[in-house]
Amino acid sequence: MTGIYDDPWAYELACSFRDVEPEVEALLGWCAEHGTGPVGSVLELAAGPAEHARAFARRGVAATALDLNPAMCAYAAKRAADDGVALDVVRADMTSFALGRRFDLVVTMLDSTSHLMTLDAFVAHLDRAAAHLAPGGLYVVEMAHPRDRLGDPSVGNDWTVERDGVRARVRWGGPDDVLDPVTQIAPDRVAMTIESGAEPRALHDVVPYRFWTATEVSAAVRLSGALEVVARYGDFRDVDLSDPDAWRMIVVLRAAQPAGAQPGIG
Ligand SMILES: C[S@@+](CC[C@H](N)C(=O)[O-])C[C@H]1O[C@@H](n2cnc3c(N)ncnc32)[C@H](O)[C@@H]1O
Repeated sequence: MTGIYDDPWAYELACSFRDVEPEVEALLGWCAEHGTGPVGSVLELAAGPAEHARAFARRGVAATALDLNPAMCAYAAKRAADDGVALDVVRADMTSFALGRRFDLVVTMLDSTSHLMTLDAFVAHLDRAAAHLAPGGLYVVEMAHPRDRLGDPSVGNDWTVERDGVRARVRWGGPDDVLDPVTQIAPDRVAMTIESGAEPRALHDVVPYRFWTATEVSAAVRLSGALEVVARYGDFRDVDLSDPDAWRMIVVLRAAQPAGAQPGIG
């Protein structure tokens, strides 16, 4: 069975509900507000097709995309080459990478930290991200809002997208994919039907998902000691994490300040 991450074109189509440019604008705004300001370099972790890294590259930012899956790496590199933008693509694990470079901004988008299955993996990941931050740089993590897994029946897991004449129906996880109460891992079933004039194509996968609560993320950050939380948002618009309209959990991190400096939040 081909997994959804082994089919980067289908994965990118499934996620084309996103408006990447405004998200990049928001990231740049947060860098201006909480970081050093102008962003000259960006590293996208667990980047998949690297839509955000490529959007930064189109703006002239030196962009690097890192992913563990070779198909995703090859696809990201080809998409960048087709667009005529410079993108450095690295195949590595987000818990153990060492690139020998630092970046003004490091990002992990669309809940890719749900692939960190244990607290040790999360802390190792935070340590690695911190080690790649330039002075004043930010690490921004976009996760699902905890409400999604804490029983809000209104959360939808089905959507339809249409791009370049191709239509796809997607179902990613759902109430039937039960979270193990001890490990906080759920076997999220993914089903996608792609219609492009010819025979519809069906794609099925099971993607293990590790649920992280807001308080666990704060605890992992403190355990790491290398970073601190400077802001949390509930959307790429300035929505508070606790706002009823919040549907994402976006955590803005920077290098931990020396003792005696103003503490972060969270
Ligand atoms: C949900 S996709 C997200 C891709 C991208 N962040 C986005 O916004 O579209 C998750 C990605 O994480 C990658 N991944 C999973 N575990 C990883 C790891 N330990 N290190 C690096 N990448 C990993 C997968 O290969 C996949 O491309």
